[in-house]
Amino acid sequence: MFEIELKPEEFTLFRNYIYEKVGISLSEQKSTLVKGRLNKRLNHLGLKSFRDYYNHLTSDTSGEELTFFVSAISTNVTSFFRETSQWTWLKGYLPELIASKKEKKIRIWSAGCSSGEEPYTILMFLQENLPDFESWDIKILATDISSKVLTHAIAGYYEPKSVEQLPKEIVAKSFERIHINNQLKYKVRPILKEKVLFRLYNLITDPFFFKNKFDMIFCRNVMIYFDDKNRHELIGRFTRLLPKGSPIFLGSSESLTTHKDTLKLLGSSIYQKL
Ligand SMILES: C[S@@+](CC[C@H](N)C(=O)[O-])C[C@H]1O[C@@H](n2cnc3c(N)ncnc32)[C@H](O)[C@@H]1O
Repeated sequence: MFEIELKPEEFTLFRNYIYEKVGISLSEQKSTLVKGRLNKRLNHLGLKSFRDYYNHLTSDTSGEELTFFVSAISTNVTSFFRETSQWTWLKGYLPELIASKKEKKIRIWSAGCSSGEEPYTILMFLQENLPDFESWDIKILATDISSKVLTHAIAGYYEPKSVEQLPKEIVAKSFERIHINNQLKYKVRPILKEKVLFRLYNLITDPFFFKNKFDMIFCRNVMIYFDDKNRHELIGRFTRLLPKGSPIFLGSSESLTTHKDTLKLLGSSIYQKL
């Protein structure tokens, strides 16, 4: 494999493009990361320079190369029941949510859902904790910018190691054990799967077309790459989609320094709309 150099002016091109398209803010120090992670891709495509790769990336109207680029420089890491303390908090909040309901209807947005573990966890959680789960009209909107992770999420098959930490009863209720090419997989059961609507959606550039409010929004470990401006605007838009008293969940390493007049920190990176 040839080691292809990334010139500073080429890095600037990528930096501006990726900021405009995805909102990811790449600092100068990320030049080595971009070069390292994309060298193999350039070799695979038979390209001789990062300038050629830039032309390839920007002329690809399918968006697939953008997905590839974003996956190479960021992370899709996720897991079932990630951020344990947030699920404990949600268990305590559930009676309040139920009491506030005139209709048995719950709407939740998992924004930046990666390969689906987060929206399916929300449903597993509700299945365990919401009385008469089956009588509720529940819909989870689960969105991501990457078509690759969404394809995995929609298929709903997971490796045994992804579910091994979960309580056995939850696994039995939520997954079917199936074999694909003699390999054991855990397939999300239709009763959960049918409640999730997966959509390709860019949180920075796509319009906020939502007519109705959500009961809660999860946007965990997504804004880590965004700059203050994009983070601020996105949180503002999320807040307008929540009724008073409703929570928004961020990743445990994320905290807000803005929106103090509209959002109150409840702990564990959970904020409540005031
Ligand atoms: C680290 S994963 C987090 C998954 C899950 N929320 C969790 O906490 O386990 C971050 C996800 O955000 C998505 N993402 C990054 N930028 C995005 C954007 N501008 N719009 C939508 N999704 C984005 C990535 O594709 C990735 O799947």
